[in-house]
Formats: sequence, structure tokens, C-alpha cells
Amino acid sequence: MSKVPRLGILGSGSGSNCQSIYDAIQAGTLNAEIVVVLSDIPDAFILERARSWGVPAEVIDCGGFKTKFPDESQAAVAARLKEYDVDLVCLAGFMRLVKAPLLNEFPNRIINIHPSLLPNFPGLHAWEQAVNAGATESGCTVHYVDAGMDTGPILGQARVPVLPNDTAASLHARIQVEEHKLYPAMITKVLESL
Ligand code: GRF
Repeated sequence: MSKVPRLGILGSGSGSNCQSIYDAIQAGTLNAEIVVVLSDIPDAFILERARSWGVPAEVIDCGGFKTKFPDESQAAVAARLKEYDVDLVCLAGFMRLVKAPLLNEFPNRIINIHPSLLPNFPGLHAWEQAVNAGATESGCTVHYVDAGMDTGPILGQARVPVLPNDTAASLHARIQVEEHKLYPAMITKVLESL
């Protein structure tokens, strides 16, 4: 890609992964620009981070649904991302399932980070699932998004041990350290393929 690639980031929470992407860009290790951050949660900290960087931060209207991502909302997000001329969509702690109306507008251009070694422990609270299952190893996965729940083709993974005294929180913290390195690196990998 000859121009600087344009990233659109979707998140629902604190946005520490979004921060790691921003930091990698600032450090010059990731050649890209975050052009918009979108969240379904109006007071999510990820939006505050974006504003503090001078990046447009917008709320996704999900029509009052708590977990559903209505087709109309997905179409509206796709249209907004197109307006921002986004090359790659990065889900970073985005808690709604993306389906056809958005996927079809960005084929092979939506990626996600998940806090487990997929295909193990898809879905919510993957770190807690790993602790409860007595796993001795976990980690994180960056993958392309398809219509399933954390099922798309895997781009890369990082591993961490699960220690005997781990709680869900302590394991998640260890996984997040790796997420913050893996996600910017995998974005670079995808961008090189475009
Ligand atoms: C991360 O653990 C990510 O893997 C999962 O949700 C969490 C988001 O954390 N999908 P943050 O908002 O990036 O801090």
C-alpha cells in the first residue's frame, strides 16, 4: 500500500489495545494512522483516549439493544468507516458480534484480538474459562473476523503460562502484556498483505 494505511478501531471498554496501536504508530514501529474510533458504549474510556489524541471518537447507536448489533447499526458503521476511507478495521475489545452488513463491506479487512489461544476458549471471559478449566497455558490470538464467534483464520498468537495461584484477573493481566505487543505486529503483517 503506497499511502499511509488508515485504521478504524471499534471497542467497548478501556481501550488498552487501542493505546498499544497508537503507541506503536507514535514510536514508528507501525506505519498506519488511526482515523476514527467507534464505540457502542458512550462512556467507554477508549473514546476518551481517542479524543485525547485528537482522533474522531464516535458512538455507535445500537437502538437500545444491550448485546445485539442490529443490521441497521452495522450498515451505519460500515458507511461511517467508508466515509473515513478506512483500509483496515481493528476490533479491540468490541463486545458485539459483527455480521454480514459490516463484514461484506470490508472483506478480509476486519481483524480482532482475543484473549486465549484459539480455538480454545472462544467467547466471553476467555481468561476465566482458562483458569476454570485448569489450563496450564493460555495467551492471545489475532484473527480475521468471520460471521462466527472468534472463528476466523488465525494471523498469530502469543503464549503465556497459567500459574498455580492465578486468578482470572492475574491471568488476564499477563495476557494483556502480550496482546499489546502482538496486535500492532499483526496489523503490520496484514497491512503488508494488502
Ligand atoms: C482484551 O483482552 C481483548 O483481547 C478482548 O477484550 C479485551 C479488551 O481490552 N477482546 P482493552 O479494552 O483493549 O483494554
